[in-house]
Amino acid sequence: MRRPRIGFLLPHYGSHSRSYMPSVVRALADAGAEVDVIHPLERAVDLSQVRVQHDMYVLRQMSRLSLSLAGVLHEQGAVIVNPYPVTVALRDRVIKSRVLQLAGVPTPTTYVASTPSQLAPLLEEGPLVIKPYQEGGQVKIVRTPAELAQVELDRDPVFAQRYHPPQGRDCKIYVIGEQLFGVKKVFPRRTQEEKLGEPFTLTPELSDIARRCGRAFEIDLYGMDVIESDGKAYVVDMDSIPGYKGVPDAPLLLARYFYDVAERAVEGRPPSSGGRRDSGYFH
Ligand SMILES: Nc1ncnc2c1ncn2[C@@H]1O[C@H](COP(=O)(O)OP(=O)(O)OP(=O)(O)O)[C@@H](O)[C@H]1O
Ligand SMILES: [Mg+2]
Repeated sequence: MRRPRIGFLLPHYGSHSRSYMPSVVRALADAGAEVDVIHPLERAVDLSQVRVQHDMYVLRQMSRLSLSLAGVLHEQGAVIVNPYPVTVALRDRVIKSRVLQLAGVPTPTTYVASTPSQLAPLLEEGPLVIKPYQEGGQVKIVRTPAELAQVELDRDPVFAQRYHPPQGRDCKIYVIGEQLFGVKKVFPRRTQEEKLGEPFTLTPELSDIARRCGRAFEIDLYGMDVIESDGKAYVVDMDSIPGYKGVPDAPLLLARYFYDVAERAVEGRPPSSGGRRDSGYFH
């Protein structure tokens, strides 16, 4: 078999970045793959030259240009991990929350509105968390109409969840193929130690919820944020290809995962995955 060709669409990593992605790129090259970083771009590119030239692309969200380039490759039939439509759905909290609800994942009651003031009557039943509907920005807990009046979202849609006071730390769940990893982390996280968190053993209930999230989007490379409140678990967020901080050997496991998908693409075999092809949502 010829060497698999893999293209990476990555965010800009500064020299102080502790991202695992540069190690993943190196590990794939060491394993014999031909690896190119397609984005960040080194220079202006003639759009008509953007063609599928790799067996597989890795799309790590964040930059809007990388997302547009992924869309351009998707339209030309590229194999992308995670697939372009799934990455787009997972960047939009409104879409991802409804998909998770439909898959029977326990989530806080979730509201959408055109202006923050429309949420005021909901505060009578308790606090809300307002979140940017797409990536970036910070979540805000709102308890009173006065606090609500201070929320500025420009013209973005308003996305809010019922606030459930968490018992203890966040349960982060990371998934790489068949493997699930639980890591407890405080929120917010500042130090390197806090970002690495502390591994914990997933209960069967949390494993089941995690699998359900993957099946809902037909992917098996993702992360979730779960809080426990009043003895109940709530999935408050899900991400495509998260940072995997605190997952033992994450760079190696990710490199193996990508190599496997790329090899299958070279051989014309479909990507293998326990979690995929279930709900039909993206078909
Ligand atoms: N509905 C909620 N009730 C209680 N706490 C919540 C709720 N939603 C979020 N949180 C807390 O806020 C944290 C951040 O929420 P979320 O993951 O939605 O935002 P984020 O901007 O994506 O943050 P991160 O990048 O850390 O994942 C959660 O890990 C949790 O501790
Ligand atoms: Mg999150």
